[in-house]
Amino acid sequence: MSLFNFWRKKEAASSEQPFPKVDLHAHILPDVDDGSKDEAMSLEMMEAALKAYVVHINATAHHRNTLSPETAEIQDAFSKIKALRDKNLLPLSLSCSMETEFYPEVETFFKDCRVSLTGKAGKYALIEFTSDVNQQAAVAAVFQLSLSGFRPVVVHPERFYFVQRHPEAAGEMQSRGALIMPNATSFVGHYGQVAKETAESILKNGAADALSSDAHRPDYYEQYAAGCRWVAKKYGDKLVNDLTWKNPCRILGYEPETERDDFDPFL
Ligand SMILES: [Fe+2]
Repeated sequence: MSLFNFWRKKEAASSEQPFPKVDLHAHILPDVDDGSKDEAMSLEMMEAALKAYVVHINATAHHRNTLSPETAEIQDAFSKIKALRDKNLLPLSLSCSMETEFYPEVETFFKDCRVSLTGKAGKYALIEFTSDVNQQAAVAAVFQLSLSGFRPVVVHPERFYFVQRHPEAAGEMQSRGALIMPNATSFVGHYGQVAKETAESILKNGAADALSSDAHRPDYYEQYAAGCRWVAKKYGDKLVNDLTWKNPCRILGYEPETERDDFDPFL
């Protein structure tokens, strides 16, 4: 390869997807669940996110009815990643919330626990479903939450059996007040062929509102970037910008680039 071609190739690679991104769903909090194991891994994950042009991470902790970290534990982990970010001068803003597995009494939990909710206004709730939930129950659940004043953001719908069987279920949840947020990693097969095809159907049907990484380890961000490239190649940069910046900024309630201060859900 001539030197000229070498530089052209480098230039093409580095100008790929150079748009800022907001990742609303990433398990970078150290040692609170099955995400980052320790502070060293959290730092690696933040550095990997920056390489994928992520400028804001909403650090999420799993909440299940029967198993959940205490608020104080999340607060401590969130303080640790902010300190790591500051010490290493990473140009990244951070917020913190929960990914909640839906259960019938979950509204009471949302009302009582501010850190469970996403965004400055505290009205968005990241929701996942257990494998036994069917389409009718999921649609009823998001409708019930919407009526109660919460805006459900359904995470990785492409991984739920009822959506894999009927991808139009994502659009139905959307029409009942939910926002739909597939994992970008699904487009490059991170969860297998069925989840990939389901994510593609959701996108094709116009039912995706945002994309996130659902990162549990640093290498997820390479797949996140590859998933975004896949979407850009098929549907154009504008859609990627809408799903990884415009809509996530609306959910956050601010643009990290213009408003650098962190959103602290504990205030
Ligand atoms: Fe997650």
